[in-house]
Amino acid sequence: KQVIAVVPAAGIGSRMGAERPKQYLQLNEQCILGHTLDCLLTHPQISTVIVALNPSDEYFAQLPQASNAKLVTVIGGGERADSVLAALKLADEHSWVLVHDAARPCLSHHDIDKLIASDSMFPQGAILGSPVRDTMKRTEVNGEISDTVCREQLWHALTPQYFPVRELKNNLSAALVEGALITDEASAMQWAGIKPGIVRGRADNIKVTHPDDLQLASLFLDNLNR
Ligand code: CTP
Ligand code: MG
Repeated sequence: KQVIAVVPAAGIGSRMGAERPKQYLQLNEQCILGHTLDCLLTHPQISTVIVALNPSDEYFAQLPQASNAKLVTVIGGGERADSVLAALKLADEHSWVLVHDAARPCLSHHDIDKLIASDSMFPQGAILGSPVRDTMKRTEVNGEISDTVCREQLWHALTPQYFPVRELKNNLSAALVEGALITDEASAMQWAGIKPGIVRGRADNIKVTHPDDLQLASLFLDNLNR
């Protein structure tokens, strides 16, 4: 099976509020996107990595990974899903794709292997997830608790998310045309009536979102043995 990766990296990191988009902030020995790309580019099964960039990106070209022969860039769109779709348009329709957030630098080869190997159990695709740990509450709009939600079957949806290119591209574009709320690739597949699987991944594969996450990611990266 031919496997490629798509990396949405066109966001501006408004919640981080830094002087540059968060994927270009330094984390230990290189920037966040550098770590993310290294993990994908060195995985033996991934043949191509397509990165979606902001039209006004001024940092990507300076990365050491920018000249890697496996790497292709494309201009992303207004929402994450638009960026992923733009990248998928360059992908071979017969391959499978791992869609992975630029802002998740703590990915491990082990989790990629687990996800790719899950295709016998989940032939229509699957995503990495981690079980929620806290007791979960539902509230009314005023903040009063209305329910305790059973935690047994609740997961955090992580990335990579692993699907056949053709199906993902078709479902993503149809869902976007219909105006469905699409926050990850699994939502687009679910929208089309497909039930992707969840594969348990490491909880330290966090999305760097707020300033506090930088210290956590730095620690997690040091502990990672890819
Ligand atoms: N992303 C993208 N295209 C967009 C928006 C987001 O490629 N139009 C990417 C981001 O670069 C990031 C991933 O999608 O790697 C996850 O998005 P998020 O964490 O929300 O990043 P930002 O949108 O940059 O951050 P914020 O929402 O705080 O502005
Ligand atoms: Mg965002």
